[in-house]
Amino acid sequence: MTAPCRLPDAPIMPPRPAALPADASPLAALSRALDNPLAAAPEAAFQEATVSFRVLVRRVHYVLAPNLIEQVLRNRAGHYGKSRLQERLLGPLIGNGLLASEGEGWRKRRLLLAPLFRPAAVAERTAEITAVFHDLLDGWGREAAVRDADKVFRPAVFRLIARLAGGEAMATRSAELYEALETYLEIMGKPDLGDALMLPPWVPKRGMLRARRAVGRLRALIRDVVETPRAADGSVLSLLRGEETSSVIDEMATLLFAGHEATASAIAWTLYLLSLDQAAQARVRAELNSYDPAAFPSGAPALATWTGRVITESLRLYPPSLVMARDSRLDHTLGDAHIAKGDTLLISPWVTHRHLAVWQEPDRFRPARFWRNPLHPEEIGPHRFAHIPFGGGPHVCLGAVLADLIIRIALREVLRRYRVESVASAVISPVARITLRADSGLPLCFRARPRSV
Ligand code: HEM
Repeated sequence: MTAPCRLPDAPIMPPRPAALPADASPLAALSRALDNPLAAAPEAAFQEATVSFRVLVRRVHYVLAPNLIEQVLRNRAGHYGKSRLQERLLGPLIGNGLLASEGEGWRKRRLLLAPLFRPAAVAERTAEITAVFHDLLDGWGREAAVRDADKVFRPAVFRLIARLAGGEAMATRSAELYEALETYLEIMGKPDLGDALMLPPWVPKRGMLRARRAVGRLRALIRDVVETPRAADGSVLSLLRGEETSSVIDEMATLLFAGHEATASAIAWTLYLLSLDQAAQARVRAELNSYDPAAFPSGAPALATWTGRVITESLRLYPPSLVMARDSRLDHTLGDAHIAKGDTLLISPWVTHRHLAVWQEPDRFRPARFWRNPLHPEEIGPHRFAHIPFGGGPHVCLGAVLADLIIRIALREVLRRYRVESVASAVISPVARITLRADSGLPLCFRARPRSV
């Protein structure tokens, strides 16, 4: 191992890019949007309920206050449609899958898939999830090593999601599928002028041809699996039998993307935060050592446990899904903002999770801020729409319970075997690349613990 590991004496402040200063020129704002869209959020966004601005002819509104977010995502969800901004980056990949669709078609599809994502169905996957992490970690051996946490968990999580989506037939093709998807995301994740200026989806993006080739490969591989006759295997694909092939492919691609990216990112950033706070890490390890994952609560009751609070705090500081975009269907007022039909609304977990009017010491890693009375988990805590890593309202993440279980099992298996330390020389920079990534990776030291423990 070349890079020296670090055990901090006291918890270290997790890094973030500074907000765009109030007096920044439009050119400075554009340059930040091109480099790292996270750094283009203006200072005012971390303080105000809404912030409105113009990008060329498009009017855009950040919606930041939790009560207004609740209006957009839940109470008045019908006033808004999914945004053309999302279509620009993800359209060729997910087509009309759940993440992109609306109306009756979306409702029917969501109801059809929902049973596979309910807590009881998810709990049945405990052994399978555990086995995937065993396989991964068995390959790491007992030598202390530095590994890029932003990369090492992705293929394993991808394999799990591939099996859930398309059964064993899809899981066995997971290496090829993964490679094609990563190529697409890498190209589309780099912001270009068209993204920064919020141009419509039909304006070509830099690297579009290569991205289209990668997505063509991905969809052809999925088609192969979809068109191969199979017995019912409890996968999403079995539920979609009889539907048109192209829409089944949309759904498979949606799940592969939505399921693996964000979940692997959450595992990586949680381990990173625990490397900065060894006391918090020891406490998670102790709790998970005597732990039956299937019996572990998810959602609000999970906050009665330390691990639940750690994961919640990690998803607050480093939400994998950085923005939810909606286009308004009508002229109306939201808080102090006048919103015209066609305007774009941006709901940013990144900003709202660090909003100064909502959180005390928002940049600190303090899992204890989520302490809840186990007997009355609903009693204390911030507004429900202040913590929105999984969105909210009718389009709330379908895979939240599954993601939660995968993260907990990953933490348990990693922390059982390793003490995780940060790398003294590493500069960690969160960047927006469709989802949250670390610009130069997320190197962590994994130091084996005694076998008997
Ligand atoms: C930590 C992990 C995850 C995070 C942070 C996350 C985040 C989100 C967010 C914010 C949305 C709402 C998007 C919007 O309103 O525009 C969403 C939707 C969705 N997520 Fe997740 N997700 C995660 C894991 C998963 C997993 C594991 C799956 C499935 C295997 C999944 C499948 C979906 C689907 C299908 C939707 C669309 C739901 C709809 O519109 O009805 N996600 N996710």
